[in-house]
Amino acid sequence: MSRMHIPVLAGELIDLTQPAAAEIAVDCTFGEGGHARLVADRLGATGTLVCIDRDPAAERRFEELAAAVACETRFLRMDYADGLGVLAQEGLEADLVYLDLGISSTQVDARERGFSYSYDAPLDMRMDPAQELDAREVVGEWDERRLAQLFRRYGEEPNARRIAREIAQRRRRAPIETTGELVAAIEAALPAAVRRRFGGGHPAKRVFQAVRIAVNGELDSLDRALPLAWELLRPGGRLAAISFHSLEDRRVKRFLAQRARGCVCPPDFPVCVCGHEPEAELLTGRAVAPTPGEVAHNPRSKSGRLRAARRLTAGESG
Ligand SMILES: C[S@@+](CC[C@H](N)C(=O)[O-])C[C@H]1O[C@@H](n2cnc3c(N)ncnc32)[C@H](O)[C@@H]1O
Repeated sequence: MSRMHIPVLAGELIDLTQPAAAEIAVDCTFGEGGHARLVADRLGATGTLVCIDRDPAAERRFEELAAAVACETRFLRMDYADGLGVLAQEGLEADLVYLDLGISSTQVDARERGFSYSYDAPLDMRMDPAQELDAREVVGEWDERRLAQLFRRYGEEPNARRIAREIAQRRRRAPIETTGELVAAIEAALPAAVRRRFGGGHPAKRVFQAVRIAVNGELDSLDRALPLAWELLRPGGRLAAISFHSLEDRRVKRFLAQRARGCVCPPDFPVCVCGHEPEAELLTGRAVAPTPGEVAHNPRSKSGRLRAARRLTAGESG
């Protein structure tokens, strides 16, 4: 069944970042526009909301939002890292930049797009359907070692080698072209006893995450985007990110912590000689997780983690 995408940690995003009248905000991952709608309402008629998404379906939904809100709006259909680069080139200064990472429920539930292990569909997983690389190429053509590395690194899959070996064996007999065939290979590689030992939900969950990250270059986009987003902020501006797995959250955490750091001298220096000053105030000490009530209402929010920081003004950091 297709569900509407419910924005995750939406109230917390608004409370922490406080979008205000006449501000300029950038939504890097427009999706269904759930967060964008709330932010637009705060910006009011004098504000501006720039929305980015690489999925053409998101652009169609943006048109509906643009007609319904009072603020000025604009859409960039591209990778958000590229979009932030475009905005920087134009000299835009933003008060708020936020990212809600991963894919939307609508993308997951669009069977033909092959994001879900719950439906049998062609192996696709592209957020941008015009992109060349798809899941069929990754699963069908990457060699066994590379697949094992992918499942370990991006899926944190403890049985990465076993699964990669099973895929390599099967595709020598017949190509693996559907999500159902990939799930079958994973299940065959993981006998029930192994599955019980590692637990962790559906046996295909980690592999599907890994393939999707590879197909869409998700971590690369995030690594490129964070410094660009930071540079786009005017003093007092806020950066926020909602992550859905530790590979993303770790990157966001490290990036914000580095900005919030003062002295960067080696720990054995008796006095500070670097003169480095913090650029950021962390708005979240620990990552903010959804409440039990939100998880009950929207189980897909469960792994969401929100982090945010404010860019300090010159006087504040000294
Ligand atoms: C979790 S959904 C966002 C949902 C949205 N916040 C809402 O409330 O409806 C993530 C969206 O970001 C898009 N996306 C993910 N990575 C992207 C990237 N690197 N560049 C552009 N869009 C991206 C996906 O296509 C998807 O529509």
